[in-house]
Amino acid sequence: MFDIVLFAVFPYVAVIIAVVVGLYRYFNDRFTYSSLSSQFLENRILFFGTVPWHYGVIIILSAHLFAFLVPVLWGDLIADQTRLYIMELTGLSLALMSIVGITILIARRFRNVRAKAVMSFMDWVLLFALLTQVILGFWTALVYRWGSDWYLHTAVPWLYSLLLLNPEIQHVTALPWEVKFHMLGGFLLVLLFPFTRLVHIVTYPLTYLWRPIQVVIWNRRVAK
Ligand code: HEM
Repeated sequence: MFDIVLFAVFPYVAVIIAVVVGLYRYFNDRFTYSSLSSQFLENRILFFGTVPWHYGVIIILSAHLFAFLVPVLWGDLIADQTRLYIMELTGLSLALMSIVGITILIARRFRNVRAKAVMSFMDWVLLFALLTQVILGFWTALVYRWGSDWYLHTAVPWLYSLLLLNPEIQHVTALPWEVKFHMLGGFLLVLLFPFTRLVHIVTYPLTYLWRPIQVVIWNRRVAK
């Protein structure tokens, strides 16, 4: 019963809330549809956190998505042992990179008074949810070897069954609890999406390509 709620109901609840609240926020409070940069408040530590975090997590999530979208191709890719080792090692390194990155970002918010002052409760929730998610992913990859292979026979059929509105939770319910938490963590982040600065993921500055150039001029005397 518990598994049904977690693996057959919760994912839909998360997606529906994300879409409905996300659209509501977009049309009613569009200015907040960003990550509200704190670069002006502190830039140096931000650089050392945000670069490894984004490179690490974006590449890993692209691999998650690629294996889900074209499982046969992914299967062919890892069928060779050397390639499998390379994929797993790359995944682990990128996971470490993103863990270091997000830890630096969290430490920065604690250490820098100005960066801390602009944090909301949900900003903290999001940072710790992301940290937990990448640690669980790293743990899964490290302890339950060859996840890039068993992912195809567990998570992928489960996710497709959700997509087809016919949840088949038996593909994932027997997995170890850390792995199950990691999978549910993906949907928890979907749920958090409209309530946090994660919304910046869908804001592409496309209009920058054709909008007139904006010149920013200081409107005060430069201190001598
Ligand atoms: C339903 C959603 C998700 C599923 C089913 C899933 C599943 C998995 C599996 C099976 C692994 C092990 C891969 C391996 O051993 O090579 C893994 C690794 C990992 N996942 Fe996820 N994941 C999900 C969402 C996420 C999200 C949203 C994040 C980050 C925000 C994330 C971050 C990671 C990281 C950092 C690793 C370790 C790197 C690697 O070796 O691939 N995952 N995930």
